Amino acid sequence: MKNSPLNVVVLAAGAGKRMRSDLPKVLHPLAGKALLAHVLDTARGLGAKKICVVIGHGGDSVRAALPAADIQWAVQEPQLGTGHALLQALPLLDQNAPTLVLYGDVPLTQAATLQRLIDAAGQDHLALLTAHVSDSHGYGRIVRVDGKVTRIVEEKDADDAERAISEINTGILVASAAALSRWLPTLGNQNAQGEYYLTDIVALAVAEGTKVVTAHPAALWETEGVNNKSQLARLERVHQRNVAEALMEAGVMLADPARIDVRGELVCGSDVFIDIGCVFEGKVSVGAGSTLSANCFLKNCSIGPGVRIQPFCHIEDAEVGANSVVGPYARLRPGTVLANDVHVGNFCEIKNSTVASHSKINHLSYIGDTTMGSRVNIGAGTITCNYDGANKFRTVIEDDVFIGSDTQLIAPVTVSQGATLGAGTTLTRDAPANQLTVSRAKQISIAGWKRPQKTKKT
Ligand code: UD1
Ligand code: MG
Repeated sequence: MKNSPLNVVVLAAGAGKRMRSDLPKVLHPLAGKALLAHVLDTARGLGAKKICVVIGHGGDSVRAALPAADIQWAVQEPQLGTGHALLQALPLLDQNAPTLVLYGDVPLTQAATLQRLIDAAGQDHLALLTAHVSDSHGYGRIVRVDGKVTRIVEEKDADDAERAISEINTGILVASAAALSRWLPTLGNQNAQGEYYLTDIVALAVAEGTKVVTAHPAALWETEGVNNKSQLARLERVHQRNVAEALMEAGVMLADPARIDVRGELVCGSDVFIDIGCVFEGKVSVGAGSTLSANCFLKNCSIGPGVRIQPFCHIEDAEVGANSVVGPYARLRPGTVLANDVHVGNFCEIKNSTVASHSKINHLSYIGDTTMGSRVNIGAGTITCNYDGANKFRTVIEDDVFIGSDTQLIAPVTVSQGATLGAGTTLTRDAPANQLTVSRAKQISIAGWKRPQKTKKT
């Protein structure tokens, strides 16, 4: 990307009434990230050192939600139109740099498209991002005479001939800050909406002999805005499809590119297979040759190579070592670190625990605040009782321990190397190495015992 100075102004003061939400429109999430944050990240990708965001409606919450050192906020109050919005940013701009105007509710514009527009503008042209669409309703139309752009006319101000024009104004443009300083203060609001239209700068540019050029997006969704929940959902699908394509291009096998959701950053090694219905949040990495089965949720976690995550697993802030097998129906909570070749089976919950290699926790267990060694076998229904209602305590289970089914380990407690706990044990004191420890009541049988009989009704 170019390093020559660039002003970026993001217009985000509009009310967004059609979202029918208390949340400001530009804070609505797309792929788990606010619409405005998408726009800001794209601007940063262009090398913008400072970005000016014009806020109005819900401005305080917008500012609070997206704090960043490289943003300058300009408040537009009241909102009198796009031209008036840009005017509020004018004092904050580097007067010697071109200015790129973006909309806070148009999240998916690609950096390459904007770079083409910036290049087209050069130092002193006015460059408009325009597109030919089949349904131009609602957009400003690009009026050309002999192929040259002469002005933009808004839908509400257009006559029938102008409405028939299929080239529309996306709203995104580049102009020098110096030119904007000349044009913006002279805008009027004598139009159908009584607003100061930014689009009127085109006629001003033409009148003073400034060249007006156009560039076009590679795809129409790049310039689509979000005005309601339906458009938001549509762009979410477009974005997810793009993410899926990029994953497949990188060699990931997807059972269905339409049924994966990545709300963050997913990095995969080679030959990873992802079945349908998997959702990824935050930063997730998956090692080579691993398989994620249907309907798993993974958030901020790293999955090693050769791992099998079986269906319906929930994994958050956790690490899974190489060649491990997890699930189906397993939950790895924050602080879980599994070494290599660990097996965690169905209906097991693990929290804030490390499990060394080759250990198995295969059925119906809760392991919390535990340090577990290698080659440990945890029987079905084992529970670490880590919480006394006020404080939490650790359980230590050393290498080669065998824990019988339905055992409770009352922390703090240590099970030393090679120990065996009999099924049903409630362990309240440390278990010594290499011995059988069992706390269960002795089994007895009562000869001649009779079952109670129902008393007969008289
Ligand atoms: C605008 C363009 C139109 C273009 C269309 C593309 C004008 C006059 N018209 O129309 O040519 O086809 O976008 O979607 O520019 N905003 C403010 N302050 C305001 C008004 C708007 O910050 O006072 C912001 C909004 O938050 C939004 C953007 O500017 O991000 C566009 O505003 P919007 O009301 O959607 O403009 P349109 O009427 O759609
Ligand atoms: Mg609009």
